[in-house]
Amino acid sequence: MPHFAKPAEGSWTEHYPDLGTALVNYEDSISPEFYELEREAIFRRTWLNVGRVEQVPRVGSYFTKEIGVLGTSIVVVRSASDQIRAFHNICRHRGNKLVWNDFPREETSGICRQFTCKYHGWRYGLDGGLTFVQQEGEFFDLDKADFGLVPVECDAWEGFIFVNFDRDNATPLRDYLGEFGRGLEGYPFGELTQVYKYRAEVGSNWKLFVDAFVEFYHAPVLHAKQAVADESQKLQRYGYEALAYQLDGPHGMVSSWGGMSPPKDVNMVKPIERKLRSGLFGPWDDYLDAEPPPALNPARSPVWGMDSFHFFPNFMVLPYFPNWVITYNYWPTSYNSHIFEGALLFVPPRNAFERLQQELTAVTFKEYALQDGNTLEATQTMLESRAVSEFPLNDQEILLRHLHRTARQYVADHQRRQPGTPVQISAVS
Ligand code: FES
Ligand SMILES: [Fe+2]
Repeated sequence: MPHFAKPAEGSWTEHYPDLGTALVNYEDSISPEFYELEREAIFRRTWLNVGRVEQVPRVGSYFTKEIGVLGTSIVVVRSASDQIRAFHNICRHRGNKLVWNDFPREETSGICRQFTCKYHGWRYGLDGGLTFVQQEGEFFDLDKADFGLVPVECDAWEGFIFVNFDRDNATPLRDYLGEFGRGLEGYPFGELTQVYKYRAEVGSNWKLFVDAFVEFYHAPVLHAKQAVADESQKLQRYGYEALAYQLDGPHGMVSSWGGMSPPKDVNMVKPIERKLRSGLFGPWDDYLDAEPPPALNPARSPVWGMDSFHFFPNFMVLPYFPNWVITYNYWPTSYNSHIFEGALLFVPPRNAFERLQQELTAVTFKEYALQDGNTLEATQTMLESRAVSEFPLNDQEILLRHLHRTARQYVADHQRRQPGTPVQISAVS
């Protein structure tokens, strides 16, 4: 059962007895063998967020997405019947990547009536059907109906587009997203069309960056220089404690204080924040009149500022006031590297002042994210030394404990489904 306030007795972690409180083994973040298993066990079996509906506004709008962890690329398109569809981005003739611009490994987007292969000119409709074969008469009993694009399961939740590569076994998306998904429905995501995006290639396992964004125990220390000196000292003295943690299936959330937005006393923040009435927690002026949906601020705290929802495996949604949101996606590229994507979604500004408020938030976020990202390679390289393999996680790190356990469970379940496959990661139990 979810807990909405700090349990009277014990800790957050102890209220989920399955988690235990033992040291946590990080072999799952440094083992190439474990990563190979994760590819099939996790990424080929779960719903993966690849974008938003605003990226495909009209019939024929499309974008491609490199899914390196599964060694493929997909094209997401709004079809003639106004449905959002996804296909493997491969031509059925001789395997050329179908949609790309100048550089085949780079993602692209646009609008078209049909997809034409650059190699020999085969054409596909927006629904994936093969519509034209160059010199069709040269082929042998070729039935175009048999050579459509290979579909990928695709669905949208609250405007977020997800794909699932396990067409036969995919749980319906809304069911997969569980209580958190249902509890966030109604948030005005669709009105947040002013978007700032960041992308970084990071030299760490994907889970280490999720780790860094599902605990704020680090915040008073790692981000100490972001606050004015007095506040920084206070934050370090008192440390960080979340308002609430909840787990639901493979997913988790942490609810967090937002007392600086606005601050009780403007001297608590930097001059630029005072002038622009904005900062890490976004513009202080709430200019979208919307009721927060029930999943937000589960502790119903008067000092609530934002919630971080982690949808397993690699997607996070962070609603702040009901007027802006951050999303994170982590795309593994190897056992010790991944691509990080961060997006800030705002209501379009009505004037230059609001624009500057948003830009201050966007650059402040970048500074924090760089500080977070900066530790990741330092952690990865030393984890790989295996000088130490088990680590104590505290109560504010409950979501990390849950994430690593969930990853191990997916891998173990995958191995159980394949009788005869030896358990290769004996150290990871
Ligand atoms: S590979 Fe696409 S038309 Fe030949
Ligand atoms: Fe951080």
